[in-house]
Amino acid sequence: MPPPPPSRRTFLQLTGLSAASVALGVSAPASADATPGRPIPSGAFALGVASGDPRPDGFVLWTRLAPTPLAADGHGGMRADHVPVQYEVAEDSQFKHVVRRGLAIATAELAHAVHPEVRGLRPEREYFYRFRVGTEVSPVGRTKTLPVHGSRFSFATASCQAWYHGYFPAYRDIARRSPDAVFFLGDYIYEYGIVPGGNLWRQGVAVGPEHGVEIETLEQYRLRYSLFKTDPELQSAHATAPWLFVWDDHEVQNNYGAAISPYGIPPELFVHRRAVAYRAFYENLPLALSSLPTGPDSQAYRRYDVGSLARLNLLDTRQYRDPAPTSEADRQSEARTIMGAKQEKWLYDGLRRSPATWNLLAGGVVLTAISNDRTDQWDGYPANRRRLLAELQQAGNAVMLTGDIHRHVASELKADFADPAAPTIGVELVCSSIGSDGDGADTDNYAKDWLRHPYVKFYNARRGYVHTTLTRSELTAEFVNFPYIEADANAEPRAIASFRSPAGSPRLEAL
Ligand SMILES: [Fe+2]
Repeated sequence: MPPPPPSRRTFLQLTGLSAASVALGVSAPASADATPGRPIPSGAFALGVASGDPRPDGFVLWTRLAPTPLAADGHGGMRADHVPVQYEVAEDSQFKHVVRRGLAIATAELAHAVHPEVRGLRPEREYFYRFRVGTEVSPVGRTKTLPVHGSRFSFATASCQAWYHGYFPAYRDIARRSPDAVFFLGDYIYEYGIVPGGNLWRQGVAVGPEHGVEIETLEQYRLRYSLFKTDPELQSAHATAPWLFVWDDHEVQNNYGAAISPYGIPPELFVHRRAVAYRAFYENLPLALSSLPTGPDSQAYRRYDVGSLARLNLLDTRQYRDPAPTSEADRQSEARTIMGAKQEKWLYDGLRRSPATWNLLAGGVVLTAISNDRTDQWDGYPANRRRLLAELQQAGNAVMLTGDIHRHVASELKADFADPAAPTIGVELVCSSIGSDGDGADTDNYAKDWLRHPYVKFYNARRGYVHTTLTRSELTAEFVNFPYIEADANAEPRAIASFRSPAGSPRLEAL
């Protein structure tokens, strides 16, 4: 049964956020005292450190103080006080050459997270950072600025980390490779209740009853992020590279679109839930101030230039999508959009002006045509897909990066998927899940639905990630999976397939 409608006062309390608290979380006033008013319990950095929003001259740093990260009330063991958090950025991991020092204030309003923004650094450089609260020092994080020109850029793509379905050996391997960036492609959390003997497949862990229900409130979303973020492999991957984020449905609720919940929650209530979910997303990730939601609205789509080597467009295919089609005629409607008119215009303008060798799109759901029944993907929005493919053909060297399906897939993007003779205009690299669906197997019952298409070149149903390298002349992508994830985090990585796509003549060549 849905909860009772919130009063206007409750709505403001749960979704409103004072400008003062937000500003403090980015930068403290010059007069602020760096010493906490009272001692903070030890272990304040139990959720780790992270960086994101990389630019040629800087990045955003993140941590969230939570000495008791799994405190059932969602407050992480913190009291309501403001807590000063110092940070430093250095050119070396020993902090002999510190280039920035600053102070941000962790407030209860933002779940004691801080998001300091560091600018004025040098391009294409490695930097190290750490935080301090009182006498306690955080783990050291490594991050990297983007290039201004760029000749080589490597990144890992990851998605769908259902913590309760298994361990995250993929993140240990990503951390080992130290890519230039990590792109997370949706389902950072899942909203479902976690039930021992039911969906709790991660062996050797216990969770309390407070995790056993579908999450709905701000405190429950915060606690869910805390639970997932206690994973040491996830923390190590955050501490090794700047991350960029795309969201999909489970950051709010399964298969939601715009203000529509498929579980019958009225829109006027569902926007309230979306507001607290978007708020917890901001609080728990290394996002710039420009990603802060306003009530139930958040500008999540954005663009990054990796010098002139690649233009990366992060898409939001949830917040503005039309509802699931009610008929085949509806599905085929020219007016249908998964991006919303404003985001479509923004994307096409950016593609037309792109100076880059590679045009990268990162999105929450698969673009390649697979089945008319898969209406949650771009298959539910064929007119929007036609408009996008026409733009991608003009822009050249298109690379679509997606996740969502918990399977590795490599496919070629066709100017017209219905025409076997249509030119190949780019490639889609679909990364499998980090954790969702547990161990998996190399193949499964769905494989034939994908591999029957000549443009689908590879399918695998185990867990893993994709590591991609761009140069001026080619893209290379390596699909990595793991023999198991449910028993422990120790499985060894296997590079099960690699592909090359030449610049100027996109296609998938098996290596
Ligand atoms: Fe997922």
